[in-house]
Amino acid sequence: FHIIHVTAEMAPVAKVGGLADVVTGLAKACLERGHQVEVMLPFYECLPEEEIADLQHELDFDAPKGAMWDGQMRLGSLRTQAFRGRIDGIPVILLRPDWRECNIFQGNRIYGGSYNELEAYLYFSRACLEYLLISGSQPHILHIHEWQTSALPLLYWDKYHNDGLKRPRIVLTLHNLDNSGECRQEEFAFTGLPGEMFATIDKALDERTIGHNPERLCLLKGAIIYSNAVTTVSPTYARESLSGGAAGWLQSTLAKPDLRNKFQGVLNGIDTAAWDPAEDAALPAPFTADQWQGKALCKRYLQMGLGMEVDPAKPLVVCVTRLVPQKGIHLIRHGIFRTLEQGGQFVLLGSGHADGEFRSLAEGQLRDHPDVRLLTLYNEPLSHIIYAAGDFVLVPSMFEPCGLTQLIAMRYGTIPVVRSTGGLADTVKDVDASEGDPSSQWNANGYTFVGIDEGSLNYALDRALQHYRDQPEWWAKLSQRVMRIDSSWDLSAASYVTLYKQIASY
Ligand code: ADP
Ligand code: GLC
Repeated sequence: FHIIHVTAEMAPVAKVGGLADVVTGLAKACLERGHQVEVMLPFYECLPEEEIADLQHELDFDAPKGAMWDGQMRLGSLRTQAFRGRIDGIPVILLRPDWRECNIFQGNRIYGGSYNELEAYLYFSRACLEYLLISGSQPHILHIHEWQTSALPLLYWDKYHNDGLKRPRIVLTLHNLDNSGECRQEEFAFTGLPGEMFATIDKALDERTIGHNPERLCLLKGAIIYSNAVTTVSPTYARESLSGGAAGWLQSTLAKPDLRNKFQGVLNGIDTAAWDPAEDAALPAPFTADQWQGKALCKRYLQMGLGMEVDPAKPLVVCVTRLVPQKGIHLIRHGIFRTLEQGGQFVLLGSGHADGEFRSLAEGQLRDHPDVRLLTLYNEPLSHIIYAAGDFVLVPSMFEPCGLTQLIAMRYGTIPVVRSTGGLADTVKDVDASEGDPSSQWNANGYTFVGIDEGSLNYALDRALQHYRDQPEWWAKLSQRVMRIDSSWDLSAASYVTLYKQIASY
């Protein structure tokens, strides 16, 4: 099979969250299974070029694009450069507009720069198709991710399929339905096609959905309808999207009988080579489920490194997260104070717009407290040490399509304390609950709660800390057992390949 992922993020060079990990992990797993896999990514100015192997300029082309001029949209084109190289062993195609004409993808970070993101990703989606046509590439599958690449199926079926790009079938993966990519009719013309085109289609679609803002076109809705298959990143989030409100007004689109059959949840894996406590260069001491002593050294190393009280017996709760409402900010805050009240330690590594609250705590009320460190920054190597050093990882999300942090933590023997939602519900079953499936590897492997209030969190966290104190031998066995869980991409990649086969043979 020839598969091309089209994405706004790719680990490790262009990572904001789990989307980046998933693209790299799935691409690698399919490569290892003998498929031809490439990833198309914007050539952001902030990409570290030294991490891109064999980087070579391939060709230049004019990508059609609309632009606002004197308050009016004019259709034209933008000179675009295509580069090839390899990131983490995966062949990539990087597209960059001429920066003498615009500032798209410039700046020192992936999102939140000075350019218009909607314009940038609509241009990018169109440029990807134009590149495929010009370079003569005919992949079997275009695997697109999130709203940023959601204009692509519509452009493909409207134009490129007729113009000679015959083979691709399109898979859309929804990583987070919170952002559905809304644009006004005239903004759709950033793709270089008249905005009315989407409006006509959107009007037709509206008759089949409810609750949609008539002023706006929803890119994700278009992609759900025009892709050959739609996946999301866990079975429970798929169910929550169909009936539990997770998809908002997109629920009515996903649940349409003719669309529902092409929608499924496939649980994410993690890159078990990148996250491997036995080989992890970031750790002061390696460890495995059988040679487990290194974990205690990692804890001591972190406590010392952060200037905390060095005490192996104090339960250490960690949290590695984007700091946004999805992640349950009020419960993270409460978890910090509850852990301290219960005589434990807490280390937070978090970044995002809600980090001000934690910075204030770190500089004010909790300043110099020997049992807590709140690090409001993004730091990948440090995250490895924190996962390894922790006894528990707290993930109190309001919603969570899959969640990788609990999977990574378990690989390092760190026990999850999670709110039971989405992928967290699929991968963490409470040690005290009887409803788990004893034959499943995801059984009796952590602590869960359901409510979004502080009392619900206490219910899980208090038990976790108490078990750690009262039953150290049992707890050590639990930690060693979760390290043996197979969270690799093996199973999930097999599910995706089955799906690719099904739709490619249409
Ligand atoms: P999401 O994609 O919603 O942010 P996931 O749990 O799927 O959540 O993935 C988060 C990924 O980002 C994990 O690999 C996690 O280790 C990483 N991460 C999150 N915040 C930070 C941070 N502040 N520093 C380093 N890595 C982080
Ligand atoms: C999103 C979700 C997260 C998921 C990740 C990768 O960022 O918030 O739950 O694990 O995508 O699919």
